Amino acid sequence: MAKLFARDVHTLHHNDIDLENDDFITTMRRNIEQGDTYVVKGGYDRQLLERIRDYLVRIGRNSYPNYHPIEEGCHNFHRMNKFDDRAYVKGCFHQFSFLPWNQDVFNLYDRFKEIYFLKNKLSQLPANKFISHEVQEGCTARMSFQFYPNGGGMLNAHADPKDRHQLTVPIMLMSQKGEDFQQGGGYVMASDGSEIILDDIAGWGDVIYFNAQVVHGVAPINPEDNLDWLAFKGRWMLLFAVNKLASTTDINNSIDYNK
Ligand SMILES: [Fe+2]
Repeated sequence: MAKLFARDVHTLHHNDIDLENDDFITTMRRNIEQGDTYVVKGGYDRQLLERIRDYLVRIGRNSYPNYHPIEEGCHNFHRMNKFDDRAYVKGCFHQFSFLPWNQDVFNLYDRFKEIYFLKNKLSQLPANKFISHEVQEGCTARMSFQFYPNGGGMLNAHADPKDRHQLTVPIMLMSQKGEDFQQGGGYVMASDGSEIILDDIAGWGDVIYFNAQVVHGVAPINPEDNLDWLAFKGRWMLLFAVNKLASTTDINNSIDYNK
């Protein structure tokens, strides 16, 4: 499969999003299909996101990380991935995952439902697809908070599958480059091989939509620092994924371009 590279970056305000306007959705979809990135600013309050981050840090410090395959009815869980060979894409991060059938104290699927509505509409799916309690077509929504620690948190350049379940994997930034970390960040790769660092053009509460197949990754976060998992200093984001279940075999896996 030919690599897809990032093209233009569009910046919108949260209030510009009109889920009922088919022309708006179609234009955005066509641009994303061609490799464009959309940064949607101003939708979510930093204070709320700081409270969520604080909650996750307490969980991360006080309970064991554990891996669970994604199957219907599985727990919410957090796990570490420190260059784990079993992952499809090599990385170094701590991940906190929430499935739609589990209740949580922040009511996350209701609070951030507009992001799944837009993701689904851009994927030409009904707005509420995959976010109910039931598995649909072998897939489920999974909201994952990803923490990339100072001292080398990273994710290799890769492409995620685009199939019946999604066109784009939105991410929300939950930290600020320049304050939480100084070097690295999430990027989409342009055709000349340059990295468009998303954390340089977006910050707290901004939501970024790009094509799952565009080459993207996380450039090492403050690589010269000592890595201290319990300090929880570094880059935070929230991923609005739709994943196949572990038992679903007819959707491709992500492709790591550095392995
Ligand atoms: Fe990805």
